[in-house]
Amino acid sequence: MTSSGQPRIQWLGRWGFMLAATGSAVGLGNIWKFPYITGEYGGGAFVLVYLACIFAVGVPVMMTEISFGRRGRGSPIDAIRRVVNESGRSSAWSLIGWMAMLCGFMVLSFYVVVAGWSFSYLWKMLSGGLAAGSVDDIAAVFGANNANPVNLGFWSTLVTLLTMVIVGKGVQEGIEKSVSWMMPGLVLMLVLLIVFGVFSGGFGEAVSFLFSFNVGSLSSEGMLAALGHAFFTLSLASGAILTYGSYLPKEASIGRTTVSVAVADTVVALMAGLAIFPVIFANGMDPGEGPGLIFMSLPLAFQAMPLGTLFGILFFLMLSMAALTSSISMVEATVSWLCDNKGMSRQSASWGTGTILWLISTLAMLSFNLGADWTLAGKTVFDWLDYLTSRWMMPLGGLGMVVVAGFVLKSELFREELGLPPLAYALWLMMVRYVSPLGILIIFVDALGVYPVSFAAHWPWLLAMLVAMAVVGEALSPRLRQALTSD
Ligand code: PHE
Repeated sequence: MTSSGQPRIQWLGRWGFMLAATGSAVGLGNIWKFPYITGEYGGGAFVLVYLACIFAVGVPVMMTEISFGRRGRGSPIDAIRRVVNESGRSSAWSLIGWMAMLCGFMVLSFYVVVAGWSFSYLWKMLSGGLAAGSVDDIAAVFGANNANPVNLGFWSTLVTLLTMVIVGKGVQEGIEKSVSWMMPGLVLMLVLLIVFGVFSGGFGEAVSFLFSFNVGSLSSEGMLAALGHAFFTLSLASGAILTYGSYLPKEASIGRTTVSVAVADTVVALMAGLAIFPVIFANGMDPGEGPGLIFMSLPLAFQAMPLGTLFGILFFLMLSMAALTSSISMVEATVSWLCDNKGMSRQSASWGTGTILWLISTLAMLSFNLGADWTLAGKTVFDWLDYLTSRWMMPLGGLGMVVVAGFVLKSELFREELGLPPLAYALWLMMVRYVSPLGILIIFVDALGVYPVSFAAHWPWLLAMLVAMAVVGEALSPRLRQALTSD
């Protein structure tokens, strides 16, 4: 029940949640952000830590979030409050929900700018404005696109409008329908680009860049980036997955869905890497180029391909759609909270949220032109929004959630909600009580630099140690024995 007394609506189709959650997870994070931060942090070692974070932290956190959502049937704030109250615990834990909701909103404020890049490149492809002969020409196009605040503002405003229109239409008509056809299209485009990459001359170098797991070469900063990105790419601790989970029917299996979403998301990110880096290396570009990386490399690939313009159009179309299926999930928490608690209609909640969003995103957009000098500690508004959310708010929100699930709630609660076989449940419990929280803490402590030795170089040992500790800890815990025997 929502606070208005109505039963909460649910996804229409069997695949509704799966599609919407995958749509939320797969987005600019996979195709824009993953390649460029992998480039910045040096390749393979970063990729390995990222994969470890996805499966050791991301998957357990996602299962926890969906359980909170489905059990509490509400926006993050309401759902967490209801679930902790059910265990007789303090409503103060719902602060985690407040942070998540704020985080989703902040992510969207800079996300619409990047999505705007994608829409503007789609337009350039359609209108023949992306014809550039060299790497320098392509970089100049990217620069010029950002330099004009009216032009850039137009595209980010368009994304804001589209997002609010879809969210205003509601869960089933707006969100569920739009994701069902574009995800397969995106994967197909990536396959085509990889095939092109294989023949571009840079493929071998790209593969060794992405998969040469040279553990020693990773910095503490890179580890925090990998952890933050695991949260970002799975849409965690930002209200998105939790709120989508609140529409999930009782019968659906949370464990199976989570693993499918995480695998699909990872596959798309790795495919994006395999599509982009061959072009980078074949053209002698710098993999550490930064946020403009895909906008400077892919247009070159399209130009060299037969039917390149057509593929370019399709690619940016798919990318823009992937961005939209993510952006709608970032405000769903806020909109659903406003509807449930402030008695607003979905339409007015969407447009109200959209207006505030537009103001903040305009500041983020100006970071690329008029406001390029409005910096604090060397970071622009855009950089701060990105940095605060993915490096701090998401990992800390995730930490809060697993700690509540592992230690604060009554044991039966999530056991019932997850409906896992005993061994799988025990594994989840071990992850949320030990591996995920300690993993997050260690990476934080390391990044803060308060220890004289860096953990970065030794992290595989640390991970193994964590798992060992968890096994011993749980073997001694009566809760585990109870979990294993009472089924
Ligand atoms: N997961 C999305 C992506 O990779 C971004 C996102 C973050 C979506 C937070 C929702 C909430 O593009």
